[in-house]
Amino acid sequence: MAVIKQLNRFCGVLVLLAVSLCGLNASRPAVNQELSTLFNELWQLDENRMRPGIDYNISVQGRASFVSPGNHVVQDHASLPLFSSVDENKLKNLTTATSFMKLLDNYEFSTGVAERVTAEEQTETNLFLDAVLQTEVMKRTHRYLVSKGKSSSNLRLFKNQLHLIWFHLYHRQRNTSPDSCGFEHVFVGETKSGTEIIGFHNWIQFYLQEKNSHLDYKGFKARMNDLPDQDDHVLSLQFSWHGLVKPVGSAFIGTSPEFEMALFTVIFLMNTERSTTVLVNIDQCQMELVVIRHGRALGTAYPKLLSSNSRHVRQHSH
Ligand SMILES: *[C@@H]1O[C@H](CO)[C@@H](O)[C@H](O)[C@H]1NC(C)=O
Ligand SMILES: *[C@@H]1O[C@H](CO)[C@@H](O)[C@H](O)[C@H]1NC(C)=O
Repeated sequence: MAVIKQLNRFCGVLVLLAVSLCGLNASRPAVNQELSTLFNELWQLDENRMRPGIDYNISVQGRASFVSPGNHVVQDHASLPLFSSVDENKLKNLTTATSFMKLLDNYEFSTGVAERVTAEEQTETNLFLDAVLQTEVMKRTHRYLVSKGKSSSNLRLFKNQLHLIWFHLYHRQRNTSPDSCGFEHVFVGETKSGTEIIGFHNWIQFYLQEKNSHLDYKGFKARMNDLPDQDDHVLSLQFSWHGLVKPVGSAFIGTSPEFEMALFTVIFLMNTERSTTVLVNIDQCQMELVVIRHGRALGTAYPKLLSSNSRHVRQHSH
């Protein structure tokens, strides 16, 4: 434990160093310290996170090749699945993950096809939000948003606010009935009229689709001198889904649905721009979190890994 603490402190120093060096590069925004502090607290509170090498194992395999958008024939640089094993007993035992998985088949795959919400689906959404609101992660998030004047302290009103941001149906395509919502886009994934994968930034959905052979992992994406490893909690990936290719998709790995919702909800409510990018340090990673609005609801949200500090430490010690 003491060794890990010291290593963490050491990493912290390296992060500061890296940040001050990056600070010379004016094009990159500064690290948001307040949100980094909050998100690290949420990271500590996330008891529903699955542990790499214990609760699940991944195999990143080869580096994916460049694919131009719209091209759906690509070379496969990963003959094996990304997820070699996931402890499903553990996953199904987590209340938020269980109610989360029930929502994954509630949506029409393609934009331009109207969403029909059945009473059963409404109940599932409600149960999911109730489960999320009971977690320490979302309780802390709620307190933060109330302290900033962005949310009501009334739990029912906060739940309505989460519902509007994540589940309010809207048009992604003109001349149709509402065909999308933030939750579907970010956590389930959809296609733009059946020709292009859009959204799809969740690891549980990735794992389940891969397991059912609807999805084929093609390899990782990373900077030339960087290699992801199996305990990274953010990855950039290339994959095909129902015959369409996503050239680069980025997702948290192992984190709980409430953790991801909490981060993106905070950024959504703390900003008013259509598109917001926040630079944060979480655990031993530096990442950008991107949030794009769709009116009063969420359009999309995803993480982009900039550096994983534990990796730099390991490289220096060789
Ligand atoms: C992941 O791999 C480790 C080491 O081989 C093993 O101990 C663990 O049980 C594996 N986890 C799962 C969910 O299979
Ligand atoms: C499931 O959850 C219960 C209660 O939280 C716990 O005691 C049990 O060990 C868990 N089972 C697994 C497989 O994680």
